[in-house]
Amino acid sequence: MNEIWIEKFRPSTFKEVVGQDKIVQRIKAFVEQKNLPNILFSGPAGCGKTSLILVAVQELYGKSWRENVLETNASMDRGIQIVREDIKNFSRTMPLSNAPFKIVILDEADALTREAQQALRRTMEQYSSNVRFCLIANFSSKLIDPIQSRCTIFRFKPLEKKDIEKIIENVAKIEGLKVDKEAIDALYELSEGDVRRVENVLQSCSVISKKITQDLIYDIVSAAKPKEIKQVLELCINKNFIRARDLLLEVMLKHGLSGIDIIKQIQKEILSLDIKDEKKLEMVERCGEIEFRLVEGSDEFIQIESLLANFSK
Ligand SMILES: Nc1ncnc2c1ncn2[C@@H]1O[C@H](COP(=O)(O)OP(=O)(O)O)[C@@H](O)[C@H]1O
Ligand SMILES: [Mg+2]
Repeated sequence: MNEIWIEKFRPSTFKEVVGQDKIVQRIKAFVEQKNLPNILFSGPAGCGKTSLILVAVQELYGKSWRENVLETNASMDRGIQIVREDIKNFSRTMPLSNAPFKIVILDEADALTREAQQALRRTMEQYSSNVRFCLIANFSSKLIDPIQSRCTIFRFKPLEKKDIEKIIENVAKIEGLKVDKEAIDALYELSEGDVRRVENVLQSCSVISKKITQDLIYDIVSAAKPKEIKQVLELCINKNFIRARDLLLEVMLKHGLSGIDIIKQIQKEILSLDIKDEKKLEMVERCGEIEFRLVEGSDEFIQIESLLANFSK
């Protein structure tokens, strides 16, 4: 499991972005004109939001795109710091290599507090001549009106069945998998149009067999073993955050678990840990918070990592 498929299969051209046709067309047109308004991508997880903007900046700036692009994430309790420091410092300097403007990609923008959003709005105004913003959010309604009105909004949808099929076919071809029709149905049902989940489950299955069946998928998607989760928690308690995170990632991939699945299991396992009751309470409470954020649509890996980081403190 040396390469994570969601990264391996991240689209690198507009053509490789499946579905979202109208949005892709419009972004492509902006890129061809070498012009881009401030944009807001909203929509559920795993439907190509991050992928599309990364394709766009690569087309705009070529190989050295990173010199003109700041890619950052608003969650993890430091949103205001990102706006006040990272984004401001980046915006202050001129674009490099004669580029007309720089781009700030701010993922999970809806995790920003209102105060942070006000600061962001001011930065957007102040540097409008040399910076364009691409805000990514699960729900556009969580952003304050002055930000929404400064952006062209693109609403992404979960991918349709035919699109998911296309993605499965492509992965199957490259990875040498045989995926039967019932398995495709199962993958679509489970994923609800979230490609990240489809690819994670496929990768987990492929470790066991190249022949992907419905049974195998349901086997894999069922819960992780309590022992594995307990091991992760014990690593946290012993302040071994990095190993805890790696192990949990492995477990999530192996069983194709979503963040919500994991939280439920973590919560159960906390009770059986050999620690003080107060600490258990604290941890259970924290789980509740993270579960809420996940239900609201936050990025799973980031939220789970922040949970483990909190446990490791
Ligand atoms: N529309 C799509 N076309 C092709 N692959 C996709 C698409 N959406 C998601 N994926 C796959 O899922 C992974 C995660 O997608 P991403 O763009 O990060 O989703 P989002 O930002 O909407 O949560 C990508 O790396 C890619 O492998
Ligand atoms: Mg994303």
